[in-house]
Amino acid sequence: MIVCRSPVELDRLRVANALVAAVLAELRRLVAPGMTTEELDAVAERQIREAGAVPAFKGYQGYPATLCASLNDAVVHGIPTPTPLADGDIVSLDMGVVLDGFYGDSAITVPVGRISDRAAELLRVTREALDLAIEQVRVNGHVSDIGHAVQRHVEAHGFSVVREFVGHGIGAELHEEPQIPNYGQPGRGSRLAAGMVLAIEPMVNMGKPAVKILNDKWTAVTRDGSLSAHFEHTVAVTDVGPEVLTRPGAEPDAQVMGPAAAAPESASLSRG
Ligand code: MF3
Ligand code: CO
Repeated sequence: MIVCRSPVELDRLRVANALVAAVLAELRRLVAPGMTTEELDAVAERQIREAGAVPAFKGYQGYPATLCASLNDAVVHGIPTPTPLADGDIVSLDMGVVLDGFYGDSAITVPVGRISDRAAELLRVTREALDLAIEQVRVNGHVSDIGHAVQRHVEAHGFSVVREFVGHGIGAELHEEPQIPNYGQPGRGSRLAAGMVLAIEPMVNMGKPAVKILNDKWTAVTRDGSLSAHFEHTVAVTDVGPEVLTRPGAEPDAQVMGPAAAAPESASLSRG
């Protein structure tokens, strides 16, 4: 069953997800050659706890850190390390919190220093694929419309979609129904209803789609060693369109984004 949230629950999800967005924005600012993902993890955990929240990933099925930091050919679930980031790397930062019983979840992929044109295109196309996926979020739309939009855009640019990991419903648990693959035919399966909250998270490889898990039992890397990017937003389905709860800079009070990113004034009017 896919749960629809009450207005009070949605407000709690707004607060939890705004915290995720704020912490990720700070981590993005800190990314530079010489910085380590262990330091980023420590900053994230401190900021989350100072806000009265708890890291959602730490301890989840035994995951050892607050942050997932996936470098270059790592797709997702990279464990933070003391190795300094280097000019030309790309690093995916995925972070979740639980606050007041409700979960937030978002991911960004960040360039370190100067990266290659093709790597920059990978980041751009993955971010665009997430935006196109979010545009599919509407009452009575199909869950499968989301993955179709991702796959279409990604493959049109010669990149590939990872099949082994999916987006998910989110709310009182980190992972709820439905599963949201990043590929497939549109117009199939479950339909969306107002109050559903979805974590949409395309994972895109520069080369072939296959992944494998490293001996640390967590880090998923591309089998062919090609670069991989990951962007994730938590999005509520509303009668006036998708509400992105993890938009950077979004405050809990001014966050309703209509289909075409409504201005803050009209946005706060259309809420509720
Ligand atoms: N961000 C991941 C997701 O969206 C969860 C990470 S799994 C964990 O599903 F174990 F690291 F928490
Ligand atoms: Co997620």
